[in-house]
Amino acid sequence: MKKLETREDIELLVNKFYDKVAKDETIGFFFNDVAKVKWANHLPKMYSFWETLLFGQVSYKGNPMAMHFPVNEKVAIEKRHFEHWIKLWTETVEENFMGEMAETAIYKATNIANLMGYKMEMARR
Ligand code: HEM
Repeated sequence: MKKLETREDIELLVNKFYDKVAKDETIGFFFNDVAKVKWANHLPKMYSFWETLLFGQVSYKGNPMAMHFPVNEKVAIEKRHFEHWIKLWTETVEENFMGEMAETAIYKATNIANLMGYKMEMARR
């Protein structure tokens, strides 16, 4: 098992994660059917997002929350969906990487997912 330390590592992690997501019974449909995500556009954004978050290499400039409100308006992204997202992310990190940066990737994702879940819930009230 290796450490999470390069851009290539992030690309591998993100690819494996979204492979799972796309086939997932609980949250896959948000990407495939609700948002009809163009993976060739989405994946590079996610590499940059994680590179920025983990390595401070500021290649992502965007608003990660904003993209989710329109999806949430079409079909509610509920707490259970975010919990499942966290489960898949944690599994994917742990299947492929070890060490402090891998733990940070899980920790940061969990915080953002929880915050996002809260914001989506508030937006539906
Ligand atoms: C069940 C939970 C989630 C669902 C259903 C979801 C779904 C989506 C969808 C449909 C897009 C738009 C893709 C596109 O059309 O290009 C997107 C973008 C994105 N998501 Fe999520 N997402 C979830 C959780 C998260 C979490 C927890 C994070 C962060 C840790 C995250 C980070 C992002 C980022 C950075 C983008 C790109 C935004 C941009 O275009 O700048 N998402 N997500």
